[in-house]
This record gives sequence, structure tokens and C-alpha cells, in this order.
Amino acid sequence: MNITVIGTGYVGLVSGICYAELGHTVVCVDKDSSKITALRSGLIPIYEPGLEELSARNTAAGRLRFTGDLKEAVRGTDLVVIAVGTPPLPSGEADLSYIDGAADEIADALDGYAIVAVKSTVPVGTNERVRDRIRSRTDMPFDSVSLPEFLREGSAVRDTLKPDRIVIGSDSRAAAEKVAQLHKPLTDRIMITDIRSAEMLKYASNAFLATKISFINEIANICEKVGADVTQVAEGMGYDRRIGPAFLKAGIGYGGSCFPKDTRALIQIAGHVEYDFKLLSSVVEVNRDQRLRMVQKLETIFGGDLSGKTVAVWGLAFKPETDDVREAPALEIMRNLIARGVKVKAYDPIALPNFRGLFGESGVVWCDHAMEAAAGADALCLLTEWEEFARADLQQLQSTMKQPVLIDGRNVFKEEDLAGTEFVYYSIGRPSLN
Ligand code: UGA
Repeated sequence: MNITVIGTGYVGLVSGICYAELGHTVVCVDKDSSKITALRSGLIPIYEPGLEELSARNTAAGRLRFTGDLKEAVRGTDLVVIAVGTPPLPSGEADLSYIDGAADEIADALDGYAIVAVKSTVPVGTNERVRDRIRSRTDMPFDSVSLPEFLREGSAVRDTLKPDRIVIGSDSRAAAEKVAQLHKPLTDRIMITDIRSAEMLKYASNAFLATKISFINEIANICEKVGADVTQVAEGMGYDRRIGPAFLKAGIGYGGSCFPKDTRALIQIAGHVEYDFKLLSSVVEVNRDQRLRMVQKLETIFGGDLSGKTVAVWGLAFKPETDDVREAPALEIMRNLIARGVKVKAYDPIALPNFRGLFGESGVVWCDHAMEAAAGADALCLLTEWEEFARADLQQLQSTMKQPVLIDGRNVFKEEDLAGTEFVYYSIGRPSLN
């Protein structure tokens, strides 16, 4: 197939490169000329394991190219995949201006039949809006398909090449079958639905996963008070196949570019049809509070006053294996620490430049090494479960810190890891050690 992918963010870039890997001819389009220049010279603007090699291989094979010229890219194509951003508006609703813009440009560029698929996460009804917009500008035949994306950052290539399922929403059986054929080498679990169900299914999936996280975080908070261990509770729950073990890791709450945005958007979608999605509103509220529990734990340890203390932060990305810091819990936690007069020393294996860009220069000491951040600190907060931190030498850590206080926001360490050290150790939903 000839495939045109519009938008080279996470979803667009990974999908485009993976379609090329399947043997199709792919053109990735972006308005941002600096991105196109970088991509053409083999630089991948996001950190995603495996993506650079895949891009290089398929570019060299002549199956993959990058352009800023949408019109040229759409000419003669079989499938146009819209993968532009839908950032949140201040109200929480998804901003559809990039989607609308893409629809208009596609309409003006179509020179024959094509399938137009929307991969961006969009509110129910958006695919119909795209279809109507295109139809109002061109007489060219086309079909609309909703093609929600379920990849995770950090494992995006694997998720795309080995998905749990492919969902295709369309009112054209023939178009849906063609898109199903395209994905057949990836999985047998291909589900064809109506357009609105496909759109809803994507939000419902993210909202459910976010609910699991907030649920286990609240269980963790109760565990702390009743003297239970949330990791054991979650493990035991997970053995029940109806519950499953995934997304039951207690911590400092979910972040990233999807769960916070999509949960708020679904609350808005429900609100528009006068439905108060109470459960999801609570999920969002629990997630906000969970971040601040880290700060409260520190306050408890230091008798309520953190001013003048030095706190090291290990981990700024919203999760490991990514340099993405959008809605990372570290943002909120560090802002709160600074507001309480804390001197923060921060380190992350790869996300530091992005974090600095978003956070601004508000007196944080940015460090190039984990131990450098910990040196002289009164306490250390571990906020992202990078492998590097799990392997840290805790004896060395203790001797470099001013006081051995460790708040493990991701339950990385076990009791035996701390044996022989004098750490005052707090984690999430597990007994504290001191
Ligand atoms: C999420 C979904 O998992 C993908 O299926 C979906 O395609 C994507 O959003 C999207 O809509 O584009 P992603 O945001 O990359 O993917 O990251 P996740 O691995 O889902 O993690 C999200 C957050 O939840 C992270 O902050 C992580 O630390 C947190 N989390 C995850 C927990 O706190 N506990 C868990 O047990 C699992």
C-alpha cells in the first residue's frame, strides 16, 4: 500500500515507520520543517528504544521518507493516517484545530480514492466531523476510518508490531476490510466496529487503566495505615484472571501525555451529554492528591518544616524508558518542594533537558549524575523507576547524603536491598523502615 501519515509525533512516527517495516511505502508529513530536516538526516526527535534503527533500515530500503509537503504526499496514496496532536484546552476538552486543519488540507490534496483514517485520540463524533469537512471541500471519493492507537511510550515499537488488538471503526465494510488486511500480519485480533464505538473504546480503555492506578494507590494509602503491604495485596489480586496483574503498581500517580488528558476529555464528553462521570472525576482527584503525599511524607519526617532542607530528586520522566516529561508527577512535586523553601537537586538519565525546558530555571540544581544529586542531601525522593536507580549502591548513597532519608515513590527497593544501611525508608503502601 501507499500510506501517508500526517503528524510525526509519537503515534504518527512510530506507526509510519512500522508500516514501512511491514513492506509498505510510507511518507510521513509534518509542518515543522526542523523536524523533517532532522528525520531526513536520521535523527529521531523522540527517545524510543528501537525506533532509530527501524527508521534507518526502512529509509535505506526506499520504503520510508519524510516531507513537509502534504499535497505531494497525499497524491496517489491509498491510505491517509491522521496522527496530529489533540492537546487539551483549558476546559479539559480536546483541541481539534490540528485535526480540522489536516482534514481541510487532505480534501484539497485528494486526487483519487483514498481511505482517511484518524489515529489521534479524538472525542466521539470527530471522525464524522472529519468526513463532513472533507466532503464539503472535494468531490473525490473517500472513506473514513477510526483507527485508535494503543501504543505506550517506551515500548511503542513492540506495542505497534505486536498489538493486543487492532480496532477499526468504519461505516464502509470494504474500507474496514482493507485496513484490516494491512494489520493482519500484526495480530489476528482485529475488531471492526462502528465509528463512534471505536472512538469511545479508546477513551474507555485509558480511563479504565487510570482507574486501576488510582484504585491501587488508594489501597496503598490504606495499607500504610493498617500495616499491610500493597505489593503483596496487588500480587494476590492480580492472580485473579478477572482482575489481572497489569496497572496495579502503586506509586505517585499516573502522568504522561495520555491518561491526564484523556481522563479529563472523557469527563467533558460525558458532561456534554449531561452525564456526570463521578467515578472518573474521583480517579483524577485521587491522582492529583497522590503526588502530594510524597511531600507530606517528607514533612512528617522533618517535623512539618522543610525550609532550608536539600532534597535530591531521582527521576523526572513520567515513566522509565522515555524522555517525555509531560504531566510528569515530578513537576508538581518539585514545585511544591520549592514553595516550601526546599533546595532541590535533580537528576534523570535522559529526560533532564526536556524537564528543564518545561519547569524553567527556578533555583533547581540540575545534576549530570545520580550521586551528584544525592551529595549533601537531607532526603532523596525517587520519582521514576529507572533501572539505574534500582542498581544504585545504597552504601555509597548513604555516605554521600547528609541524612539517610529515602522516599521511594515507585517501590523500587526491597527490605533486603536496605539491609546493612541506616536509611529512614518510606515507600508507597508498604511498611516504613527506620
Ligand atoms: C498509555 C496507554 O497505556 C496506552 O495504551 C495508550 O495508547 C497511550 O496511553 C495513549 O493514549 O497514547 P503511556 O501514557 O505511554 O500509554 O504510558 P503507560 O505505560 O500507560 O503509563 C502511564 C502512567 O501510569 C505512567 O506515569 C506510569 O508511571 C503510571 N502507572 C502505570 C502506574 O503508576 N502504575 C501502573 O501500574 C502502571
